Amino acid sequence: MPSDAFLIEHNARPLWHPMAHPAEMRADPPKVIVKGEGVEVTDIDGHRVLDAVGGLWNVNLGYSCEPIKKAIADQLAVLPYYSGFRGTATGPAIELAHELTEWFAPEGMARVFFTSGGSDSVETALRLARQYWKLRGQRDRTKFIGLKKGYHGTHFGGASVNGNINFRRNYEPLMPGAFHIAAPWTYRNPFDESDPAKLARLCTKLLEDEIAFQGPETIAAFIMEPVLGAGGVIVPPETFMPAVREILDRHEILLIADEVVTGFGRTGAWSGSRLWGVRPDFMCIAKAITSGYFPLGATLICEKVAHAFEANDDAFGAIGHGYTYSGHPVGCAAGIAALAETKRLALNENAALRGIELGVALEDLKQRHALVGDVRYKGLMAALELVSDRETKTPIDKKTIAQVFERAYRAGVMLRTSGPNLILSPPLVITSRDVERIAQALDDGLAAAAR
Ligand SMILES: Cc1ncc(COP(=O)(O)O)c(C=O)c1O
Repeated sequence: MPSDAFLIEHNARPLWHPMAHPAEMRADPPKVIVKGEGVEVTDIDGHRVLDAVGGLWNVNLGYSCEPIKKAIADQLAVLPYYSGFRGTATGPAIELAHELTEWFAPEGMARVFFTSGGSDSVETALRLARQYWKLRGQRDRTKFIGLKKGYHGTHFGGASVNGNINFRRNYEPLMPGAFHIAAPWTYRNPFDESDPAKLARLCTKLLEDEIAFQGPETIAAFIMEPVLGAGGVIVPPETFMPAVREILDRHEILLIADEVVTGFGRTGAWSGSRLWGVRPDFMCIAKAITSGYFPLGATLICEKVAHAFEANDDAFGAIGHGYTYSGHPVGCAAGIAALAETKRLALNENAALRGIELGVALEDLKQRHALVGDVRYKGLMAALELVSDRETKTPIDKKTIAQVFERAYRAGVMLRTSGPNLILSPPLVITSRDVERIAQALDDGLAAAAR
């Protein structure tokens, strides 16, 4: 292990950080996290904080899940790696694929394609969607529609369907054939409509119009997160996703549910699609599939799409896509253990219950702090959007939100800032007492920044 002095000296020097400005990281080096225990992490100075970020929406089981650690160690001892490409398979990949289809995703999801993470899972869904239409003889169906504010990872396909300018502009030109409609976001939308049901109707009308404009026979799929995460925890009205499914069905367009964040209980339901009672054609999962203990993702594929591939015996049916680490045996062993623990502890139920408590606390903070423009939450996904003026909804400046973060950190809670939003995605094993600690730290941080 390198010494603390070495880590401090070299922090943010050769290492570039995702989603950060290298110069900013050098000027203000990131906190070095050295240990995790329960729902807390400790930094290099020995300061211990409750991790209200849950790693990065993924450490649902906290940092001390012995069954996952044991499963990883056992698998490493027996077979640290073997390929899942044509001709070979490993036991953990077969078992986890079975678990996922049997238990996690019974909504008609029939097949599993393993990946190394969320961006890979999205890429897989986009590519297989295009291939599906070629197999069906509808070769013009190549376009995708997504939501503005949607986030679908960083590969070129995913970035193209992303609806957030920050993740697009520096990398343009992106993939042609990707289009966007406004997200049903009650706090900010082009219609100034705050009624959820009316807004859902307006946004689904946008979808109908875009489909008509592009030509339904040219559209492969529509992609959305059941609850938009990175865009600032935008919870669609409950009527939205079912209405989208109905429109897509009418035009035979596939639905890709990006459940990289919403999978495995985060919203209070096992998946975001189930939360809204919708059956997608593809489901992208990653993050909590191993509770963050090993990089792994998967794309789940519905029966109808699977049939088109499996019933086809010419070269088009072959999947010309995959990753060296698709079905990594150590990752899959971690996944099997993580799923078993997730199920045993009924983490969806805890997320729903603790989410209600968190929601009450956030509404209270909104009442008492003028800096809070809006609060949004579903299960244990939550955001506080900070504004400098509630009337004009002017987003808070970087310095003020950084003050809230630092003060909360000193008070013992790790938050995440994203633009004007404070994002909360704590481990799903948190207790009511942990919710109180998060609320207290936010209270301290908001009070300090307002002074
Ligand atoms: C909804 C969604 N899709 C895809 C991704 C990309 O996942 P990864 O960072 O594992 O590539 C993320 C990451 O946060 C995400 O939130």
